[in-house]
Amino acid sequence: MEPSLNNDLGYPILIGDDLDGELRAFARRRGPVSAMLADANSKLRPSIARLRAALAARTPIVVPLGERRKRLATVERVVDALVAAGVERDGLVVGAGGGVASDVFGFACAIYMRGVAYAHVATSLVAMVDAAIGGKTGVDLRGGKNLAGTFRDPVAVFCDVSALRTLPPRAMREGLAEIVKAAIIEGGDFFESLEELAPHPFSRWPWVSVIDAAVKVKTMMVADDRLEAGSRAVLNLGHTFAHAIERASSYAVPHGAAVAVGLRAAGLLALRTGRFSEREYLRVLALLTLLGLPLQISLEPDAIFAAMTSDKKKRAGRLRFVLPRAIGDVEYGIECDPRRVRAVLAKLSEPPGTVDAGR
Ligand SMILES: NC(=O)c1ccc[n+]([C@@H]2O[C@H](COP(=O)([O-])OP(=O)(O)OC[C@H]3O[C@@H](n4cnc5c(N)ncnc54)[C@H](O)[C@@H]3O)[C@@H](O)[C@H]2O)c1
Ligand SMILES: [Zn+2]
Repeated sequence: MEPSLNNDLGYPILIGDDLDGELRAFARRRGPVSAMLADANSKLRPSIARLRAALAARTPIVVPLGERRKRLATVERVVDALVAAGVERDGLVVGAGGGVASDVFGFACAIYMRGVAYAHVATSLVAMVDAAIGGKTGVDLRGGKNLAGTFRDPVAVFCDVSALRTLPPRAMREGLAEIVKAAIIEGGDFFESLEELAPHPFSRWPWVSVIDAAVKVKTMMVADDRLEAGSRAVLNLGHTFAHAIERASSYAVPHGAAVAVGLRAAGLLALRTGRFSEREYLRVLALLTLLGLPLQISLEPDAIFAAMTSDKKKRAGRLRFVLPRAIGDVEYGIECDPRRVRAVLAKLSEPPGTVDAGR
């Protein structure tokens, strides 16, 4: 299958199942590669070796990552490594890894010498459909997640779907939740194709086209609203709930699981406020279930609500939500009665059913 090229953001995002040729062409055009950065995870070694050969790069600088290392200290470590590698202001850095890598390496390259050209090779599903797309980078501070970061476009993003073969199921589910979110935003063929694929094993999925469709949703939204002033907010579908669930669980619930439950919650709130049909709500639940994503969470509704009201997306003391009107029609900035929100949260510890529609 031919690789797919997305240029909506003014730089190439290439999606394919063998991008060696594209990587070689890129290195010839933009190169030489001054430094290669890579997630130190040993499972990635074969991909990194192939990448290095295609880019004719020097020995990669491997950096131990993981969610807990998404800190300024790691960014400083990477910047120091770039100094040691002698990367110049007009150099080109290529990084490889998942979403933590794109956040940390992207951040380091955005501040190194006030910004050096950076290309990311996404190896996880989250990085391919979300983290590496859109030019946001960030690390966690003691005060909260992703509180320090930059907006800076990479020069290119590569999504080689062959890397997904080694991705653990848990990391796979993290990305699937974001793909379902994108499909609810886009609707139409994208959502239907996921419904058709869901019962089949991942090894049979046409990943290039699935990722291409999810990336397209993100790039269209980002292109309309680069600095997140408004419309890009639809990408936060399910996320007001998800962030509150993560916080209320002290981050014991992974982001993807929280997004899945958050998509149920947003659907239910939309249903109960007369926006969304029960038929489409049930379609969303059925898809999440087929994909093995959770719909229930055993957390106190009050704890989720408290976490939600301290969320940074809350404006002027009011709770605003991103809600579906239909699959393929998502609205943002919708104010909801806190009592209705609490009633939805109270349902999340129960299995879903048609009973959800009851007020
Ligand atoms: N900046 C943004 O716009 C944005 C958007 C979404 C998510 N994010 C961030 O992305 C991060 C989550 O991304 P993630 O799920 O990719 O996490 P991750 O980078 O930690 O990767 C998950 C795990 O999979 C491993 N891995 C990566 N690729 C692999 C492969 N091909 N084979 C085997 N193992 C592989 C990693 O080493 C890690 O252990 C979060 O920190 C989140 O905040 C950022
Ligand atoms: Zn998310």
